[in-house]
Amino acid sequence: MPLPSLSSFFLGFVAGCLTIILLLAIAAVSLTRSGDIYGLGHWKLNIRTPFPSMWMNLGFWTRDDGTAIQHFDEAARNMLRQLLQAAGLLSNSSSSSSSSSSSSSSSSVAVLDVGFGCGDQTVALAELINASTRPQFRYVGLTLNATQLQEAQQRLDAALSHSTQDPSSSSSSSTTTTTTTTSLNLPKASSFQLYQADAAQPTSWPPTVLSSVTSLADASFSERWLMGLDCLYHFSPSRKPILTLAARTLHANVMAFDLILSDSASFWQTLAVRILGFVLLCPWRTFLTEREYREQLVECGYDREQIEIRDVSDHVFGGLAGHLRKQDAVLRPYGISLTAYALVGRVYEWFDRTRVLKGVVVIGRVKRKSQ
Ligand SMILES: C[S@@+](CC[C@H](N)C(=O)[O-])C[C@H]1O[C@@H](n2cnc3c(N)ncnc32)[C@H](O)[C@@H]1O
Repeated sequence: MPLPSLSSFFLGFVAGCLTIILLLAIAAVSLTRSGDIYGLGHWKLNIRTPFPSMWMNLGFWTRDDGTAIQHFDEAARNMLRQLLQAAGLLSNSSSSSSSSSSSSSSSSVAVLDVGFGCGDQTVALAELINASTRPQFRYVGLTLNATQLQEAQQRLDAALSHSTQDPSSSSSSSTTTTTTTTSLNLPKASSFQLYQADAAQPTSWPPTVLSSVTSLADASFSERWLMGLDCLYHFSPSRKPILTLAARTLHANVMAFDLILSDSASFWQTLAVRILGFVLLCPWRTFLTEREYREQLVECGYDREQIEIRDVSDHVFGGLAGHLRKQDAVLRPYGISLTAYALVGRVYEWFDRTRVLKGVVVIGRVKRKSQ
């Protein structure tokens, strides 16, 4: 039998490939014709930017009246409210209970907000403490992330452009969500300075950032605060440099939401938590026990007698894990998968069950001559 020539073999190969492509094309066309090209994928065409909120903390999922919060933005803002309440900075109009401790709105306030997020926190803080009615208010925010800085600046600018900046008009602050279309009562734009900088390493700051931060030490601010909302456990090499700068250079108190290690965590639980922290790019020994945390605050310059650490885990992990499950279910029909967040949700369920890590509100105060 004669062997086919090389050219006829090549022709046969090409013809075979073309036939397969043709068959696949016919199958694709007939599938499209028999099916429905419409679904829910056009959600992308319907959403408007900027999004109503871009909070990203674990949230405090219980209202003051004990009812459960259902929405992420409300829970995240409520976490900020908890911090301000613990610090005694919540203005009376933002406090749901008239008996809650609140600093006089007549005091001047300076805040160094590290890891401030995407702008919601900056605007909400100014609203909640009634910054526009205080004699002086200065806010310096530091974030590691350039895109978050850009988003935050845009949100702040939008909020400021809707601000009445009229201290005599009634406050529009609400305990739920912030929208940039509501008329707000905010201080002037120059009160806010946002920067991209590694807040964990003050020695790396450029001169503009350093001078902006040190300006907060001005004695005319009777209330000076460092705020770290759900971020200090990321700080590398540790929390110490920023806490020391705040206590010793700014003479500022500290308010934080942070995570601490249970005293009763087993060797394996501690190892699991350390590995988890490592995956999240945290320093290996970032999670401290309450005793170690207190010692660190004292070492950095805070008054041992004035440190408060309140375990708020009951209001944090379960609420967030439930929200992630719910969000996964409602977004699935739109083809949106929360895979990574769903995995994180499992970790929060584990924290909720074992309390190997606890969510805490921390207040540390420096000794003042006047105190
Ligand atoms: C969980 S988010 C909390 C954001 C914000 N506080 C909120 O509640 O929406 C942690 C934030 O800390 C920031 N962060 C982490 N390490 C930082 C560092 N060394 N310096 C400044 N920001 C940092 C991250 O970029 C991120 O925005």
